[in-house]
Amino acid sequence: MSFYGPPVEALGRFVHHLGAAINIYKENNIAYWAGDNVVALARRFSFSRDQRFRAAFAKHAGPDDDSKMWRVATYRWAIRSAFGAHGDLVECGAFKGFYAGVAVDYLELDRGDRTFYLYDTFEGLDAEFSSEHARDTLNPHYATPFYENVVRRFASYRHVRIVKGVVPNILSEVAPAAVAFLHLDMNAGHAEHEALEFFWPRIPVGGVVLSDDFGRIEHDVYDALSVWATHVGHAFLELPTGQGLLFKTHV
Ligand SMILES: C[S@@+](CC[C@H](N)C(=O)[O-])C[C@H]1O[C@@H](n2cnc3c(N)ncnc32)[C@H](O)[C@@H]1O
Repeated sequence: MSFYGPPVEALGRFVHHLGAAINIYKENNIAYWAGDNVVALARRFSFSRDQRFRAAFAKHAGPDDDSKMWRVATYRWAIRSAFGAHGDLVECGAFKGFYAGVAVDYLELDRGDRTFYLYDTFEGLDAEFSSEHARDTLNPHYATPFYENVVRRFASYRHVRIVKGVVPNILSEVAPAAVAFLHLDMNAGHAEHEALEFFWPRIPVGGVVLSDDFGRIEHDVYDALSVWATHVGHAFLELPTGQGLLFKTHV
């Protein structure tokens, strides 16, 4: 179970009691979800019974990624839901290409004609577009070079385009003219706000924006995105997974 929030010394007690509560559901054969800072009891969790999704997930997930299954299920649903809109697919913050890999395989994106643009510095958060606190906490995770691995992972996919650079600066050099799906996953409110502002005029009605960290209190994404969205007459829906989902409904 991956949980955080209370002081470290209280977490042990929390996980212990939570484990005891979860055991009651287990013993009674009632479905539950406990991971990624989410506890949900007696729900369907239909995504976890989709065998094709599970196979794509298992192919791309790392050893600690199981708790992200609900988030990735939302992500592939959001991409699928954007198919009604004209345009390419964009991810700002691709890291090792885990989410994108699952989506490309599960949705067979390579058989279609949309290009999936995967943007990343491949070196962690950029100093100009993130807080010092976020960089101090997160950049150690991005210290081992991963660009080559991502290139290898997608080498056989014709419709994946890997773009190395700082968002938003790189967008003036490489960016699709129309975007049906925009995923914001840079753990940096400033960079995500700039990306949303840049792409918004390129997203047609019916296009979808998904923010991976919208509702998570450990990141500074919520204020940056929600305030901007109100300026264009839209609002993100905060999901239990911590993600924020927005459909463009009007220009
Ligand atoms: C949480 S990870 C993305 C996870 C990814 N979506 C996946 O499938 O696992 C955040 C990524 O954002 C990248 N990043 C942060 N700030 C950035 C910026 N301003 N421009 C480009 N990439 C950035 C980091 O290098 C890191 O790889």
